[in-house]
Amino acid sequence: MHHQNLIALIRQTTAAVFLGLVFLAPLHAADIAAMPDRQIQRVLNDALQQFSDLEEGANADYIPALAEVDSDIFGIALVTPDGRVFTAGDVESEVSIQSISKVFTMALVMEQQGADFAPDGVGVDATGQVFNSIVAIEQYKGAEMNPMVNPGAIATTSRVAGESREEIWNRILEFHSRFAGRTLEVNQPVYESEAATNQRNVAIGRLMYAYGHIDSNPDQATDIYTEQCSINVNARDLAVMAGTLANAGLNPVTGEAVMSAANVPETLAIMSTAGLYDDAGKWLYRTGLPAKSGVGGGIVAVSPGRFGIAAIAPPLDEAGNSVKAQRAIEYVSNALGGNPYEVEPVQPTRR
Ligand code: DON
Repeated sequence: MHHQNLIALIRQTTAAVFLGLVFLAPLHAADIAAMPDRQIQRVLNDALQQFSDLEEGANADYIPALAEVDSDIFGIALVTPDGRVFTAGDVESEVSIQSISKVFTMALVMEQQGADFAPDGVGVDATGQVFNSIVAIEQYKGAEMNPMVNPGAIATTSRVAGESREEIWNRILEFHSRFAGRTLEVNQPVYESEAATNQRNVAIGRLMYAYGHIDSNPDQATDIYTEQCSINVNARDLAVMAGTLANAGLNPVTGEAVMSAANVPETLAIMSTAGLYDDAGKWLYRTGLPAKSGVGGGIVAVSPGRFGIAAIAPPLDEAGNSVKAQRAIEYVSNALGGNPYEVEPVQPTRR
């Protein structure tokens, strides 16, 4: 073989082996910042393709308007701390944020009162019960209610500072909008539909008041909580919100410091304990990621310092978590080395 042809062959083979290793081997977290865009995009495309035909689950229907939402919406988005945004599928269709709002209203209260309002007041342990469990309230007399489940979330909303309902509400909506990097709006039909059928949450708010964990009008707290759950978002919005948490509170797209970095670890810890309700343990086991789901079909997850990711697909499993969104996020994160518990061993240098 001609000398130059041999060199070319060696070069091509080396490149092929390198590419093979890059695409087949699990990637490591430290590599994500340097990872080429097309590689990340390919993983999102694969996830969309693999899970789009999944038929499991059904739209939430205990809020009548949610049963009407197109069950075929399926979009995935990922945002890196350096502001790269990757999307696959339908990232334009909006659904109501629902319980994912619990994260951002909690973060707002942390900004106003400090992160310890949660362990010192509302609680941070998982209830191990469904998100709107009344048994859990009775068991602990309203204490130990995580802000990611309804009793803790309504008590958390009741703590948002403001002189009037309007002022409290505007602060909540504005805070969510800063995380998303655009002005968000309420889905009025969803709000009205839930407000007309949320007697259980009204009961939860009143019980929390009776046990002394809400000290303002509990019906107003439940009403504001219902409105915050009706904020409309698409998958891209949710990924930017998650990306802001992945980037120590600084929105990677707008460059705005939305929350203080000091409160982010506590926010993520609370998401880890109960973000997917009584399935939070299974989720953490599979992904290692702090995450939060909503019955609108969205899920956000955070790989700290690496990426924020979100997916929307309305059909839910028994625990109230989107079937496709869970699968897609797990696939993408694991393919990108997003699990924060997964590290490469370092050989000791001092013995
Ligand atoms: O409180 C409710 O029932 C709804 N507004 C939110 C519930 C929710 O998203 C639970 N999610 N998995």
